[in-house]
Amino acid sequence: MKKLVLASLALGLMSGAALAETIKIGVVGPFSGPAALQGRNFQAGIDAWLAMNGSTVAGHDIEIVYRDLPAADPAQSAALTQDLVVGEGVHYLAGYYYTPDAMAAAPILEEANVPMVIFNAATSAIVNASPYVVRTSFTTWQTSTPMATVARERGIDKVITVVTDYGPGVDSENAFVAGFTGAGGNIVESIRMPMNTNDFSPIMQRVKDSGAEAVFAFLPAGPATLGFMQAYVENGLKDAGVTLLAPGDLTQEPDLAALGDNALGVLTTFHYAVSHDSPENQAFVAAASKAIGNPADLSFPAVGAFDGMYVISKMIEATGGNQDAKAAVEAVKGLAWTSPRGPVSINPENRHLTQNIYLREVAKVDGHYINQEIQTFENQGDPGWKAP
Ligand code: PHB
Repeated sequence: MKKLVLASLALGLMSGAALAETIKIGVVGPFSGPAALQGRNFQAGIDAWLAMNGSTVAGHDIEIVYRDLPAADPAQSAALTQDLVVGEGVHYLAGYYYTPDAMAAAPILEEANVPMVIFNAATSAIVNASPYVVRTSFTTWQTSTPMATVARERGIDKVITVVTDYGPGVDSENAFVAGFTGAGGNIVESIRMPMNTNDFSPIMQRVKDSGAEAVFAFLPAGPATLGFMQAYVENGLKDAGVTLLAPGDLTQEPDLAALGDNALGVLTTFHYAVSHDSPENQAFVAAASKAIGNPADLSFPAVGAFDGMYVISKMIEATGGNQDAKAAVEAVKGLAWTSPRGPVSINPENRHLTQNIYLREVAKVDGHYINQEIQTFENQGDPGWKAP
């Protein structure tokens, strides 16, 4: 009798364990095409988190389901997201490199009862598109605002702005212009480029002709950023002493070797440098380098993904694996932790990260080009967020 009870108890436990549902996380990003490096960084961040924390959370196995979105394509983003929710039955959505893709997917979340953790897309307004959006990246308002202070502190008076003409570019321009003119600086001209611009020589000519002392620039990190930096040098602006000011998208680490000494001294403001000096970042870089294969390929989207996985793990713990998007999002409001980038917390009001923004200078250390952090703007919120 006793034996039988024990046996059925063991069986019960076993079936209980077998019943623990696998939690599926659908990840949308550019995994092929010209921006594939950015998607590979999503994957490296996810793999690093799984290697360091295991692939089971609160007794549930985690399964990652990838969907490739090579370029910004809102219609395709909505279709892939719908397929992840309906076809794959994912419990969480994550990734989203470009703003238009995140915006197009956000309306699906409430009815699907699925939270979305944005690993990159950086326009302030995205968090207003759904109460189920949480963001572990940055906003371009957040990264661009301190650059206005830096420029004024360095005595720069006349600036021309050049940005890609879509959400994060317009936000970046607005942030810099507000900060710079608020501190007494002059904007001589503002140029907005179409997203597919890849010949930057005419833009560089306009920068030269404007008579500005400095150019403030934002482009989404990817193949165009390297082209823009090369055009700045090749068109003689660097030699003419026109200072380049930008958020860190323009000097992501994988581009630095190709730019070589030409980028030395360029100042950028950003939330993450691969060279950030902390024990948390050392552990992260070791795991993410192993995941991506070549450490020189590591870049900021990896840290957004790594922290995003942490946030999702907290959501899974809080809901015991039940699909309850509202409870999952509530559970991470106010969550604070030490990221590889430094201390961060989720602002309960807008579900975006409060974090340090660092002023960095491209430097050559031990034969490697890095974004060397030289100043810290602590605990920056999102100055671009407006209550809906
Ligand atoms: C965006 O589309 O929101 C985006 C993409 C790449 C960046 C920054 C922002 O580097």
